[in-house]
Amino acid sequence: MDRIVITGGAPLNGVIPIYGAKNSALKLQAASLLSAEPLMLENMPDLADTRFMTQLLQSLGVEITWIKETRTLRMHAAEILSTIAPYDQVRKMRASFNVLGPLLARAGHATVSLPGGCAIGARPVDLHLKAFEAMGADIHIEQGYVKAAALRGLKGAAIEFPFVSVGATEHTMLAAVLAQGETVLKNAACEPEIADLADCLNAMGARVEGAGTAEIHIQGVTSLKGAKHAVVADRIEAGTYAMAAAAAGGNVLLAGARFEHLGAMIKFLREAGVQVDAEGRGLRVVRKRGQRLKAASFETAAFPGFPTDLQAQAMALMCLADGESRIKETIFENRFMHAPELTRLGAKIEVHGNEAVVTGVEKLAGAPVMATDLRASVSLVIAGLAAEGETIVNRVYHLDRGFEGLEAKLAACGAQIARQRGED
Ligand code: EPZ
Repeated sequence: MDRIVITGGAPLNGVIPIYGAKNSALKLQAASLLSAEPLMLENMPDLADTRFMTQLLQSLGVEITWIKETRTLRMHAAEILSTIAPYDQVRKMRASFNVLGPLLARAGHATVSLPGGCAIGARPVDLHLKAFEAMGADIHIEQGYVKAAALRGLKGAAIEFPFVSVGATEHTMLAAVLAQGETVLKNAACEPEIADLADCLNAMGARVEGAGTAEIHIQGVTSLKGAKHAVVADRIEAGTYAMAAAAAGGNVLLAGARFEHLGAMIKFLREAGVQVDAEGRGLRVVRKRGQRLKAASFETAAFPGFPTDLQAQAMALMCLADGESRIKETIFENRFMHAPELTRLGAKIEVHGNEAVVTGVEKLAGAPVMATDLRASVSLVIAGLAAEGETIVNRVYHLDRGFEGLEAKLAACGAQIARQRGED
């Protein structure tokens, strides 16, 4: 297996391009199933997860071409050849489950494996299934598979989510655009990726209003057409490099990052003593070397709160801050697996249930570490950039799921980082 070797201590200076958001791209890819005409996605990230979604969609009959030079993915679902997403495909990547709604809406039925839990929590899909039932679908669970049918089509419905779910909001939208009549979603998630999905669906001829607020209205249409859409910039990728620059010190421009999508993180970084400003079409992050970070506390929350997908990276940063910071994880029940690995580098972290108390130290020291999920792995890279000596991050395949060209982007700014290829 590949590993990443970092010699810490080098500052980061330069420009880091921010690509399209993984968590938007995967749902936009699923949207290709809704139309018999081609969907062109520009600013696509090229990730293990997006490639995986490509393979799944191809198995369902979607013709897909990746145009590398323009970072464009062309997807054409002229005909749906299969409505089955098998266990092996959904187990490996939870976002695969998102093909259920579009298949149900376009073909009238689908059989999709339940995704099951994952390292960060149980992650049930009950809200997704209840929403489809409210739209008139028959849902049965047999041998780990969801069998869904709406042979006379889905019907618009009033759906109020009991709590905010990004996935359930998006998945319901992906089905409701082709339902008969109006669907109203209350207590919907407001993440920028939801507005991005609505923009793409509307470009395809859907009628979605209110995305980005807690109430979304969708007027169903009978068919959708082809469209071209640019994937929204990845706020988590941008936030990750902002934390990296803050940890290592230096001055970086995150080209393409959207200031308005990163409010909670910017507030946190400023409290920690990091300079963050909008600059042109990007974000400038500066931390002078020799100037110690200050402790800052936060709790994760749905947008516009502090994103759970940046919690691990922010914890890595706080390991070096002056004072004690408290971090509360409110979205997932088991998302502190990076804490014991960070302590291997000399960090002082105590975890009590869903709260972590980090007492900053002046220095971290490099060590071999291993991570169990995507954001946890990158938090170890951030700590390694700031630590003295060599840090070896194992299980790099987690990183490849969500960060394209991580080592190259960091090395171009002066980081001492390289990938060592290993045998699988
Ligand atoms: C999305 O997951 C992201 N994944 C996650 O990013 C992200 O952490 C999360 O949203 C929160 O922002 C993708 O977009 C592919 P939720 P999702 O539904 O949609 C519970 C990463 O690192 N819940 O908002 O699955 C759930 O268990 C990943 O890129 C139910 O109980 O998140 C969780 O506790 C990790 N029943 C909470 O709601 C349901 O039916 C919020 O989850 C659905 C969710």
